[in-house]
Amino acid sequence: MKKIIIITLVFSSVLLASSLDGKKVFETYCWGCHHQSAVAFGPPFTEIAAKRSIAEVKAYIKEPKAMYQTFGYKRTVMTQLELSDNELDAITRYIFSYKGK
Ligand code: HEC
Repeated sequence: MKKIIIITLVFSSVLLASSLDGKKVFETYCWGCHHQSAVAFGPPFTEIAAKRSIAEVKAYIKEPKAMYQTFGYKRTVMTQLELSDNELDAITRYIFSYKGK
């Protein structure tokens, strides 16, 4: 019985983590500066998804200061955010859901 409870707990927390909503991460951290398909302060997700790889996008979100020159920017004004790995995965999936849109 104890085993079943533990398995259920582990399983539901894995489910919870993997279903973390990218839209929520977007609304919490990115919305003020990025829009899905229109240019805001930063470029739109449609454009980012069209020209970058998943690894590049993750690296940029993790540390804009380490990536902006590689991406061709003269400077960076993007906020250095402290996202968890789950949040980073979720927001990256969300950005790439706009690929080709
Ligand atoms: C304070 C405003 C601001 C916030 C908040 C912000 N960004 Fe940015 N972001 C920018 C600007 C401006 C750029 C353009 C280059 C620069 O200044 O770093 C940028 C660039 C980027 C790039 C690289 C664009 C390219 O050329 O491919 C990615 C990816 C990105 N942002 C993702 C995000 C995500 C995801 C979030 C939220 C988790 C976020 N940003 C939050 C302003 C912001």
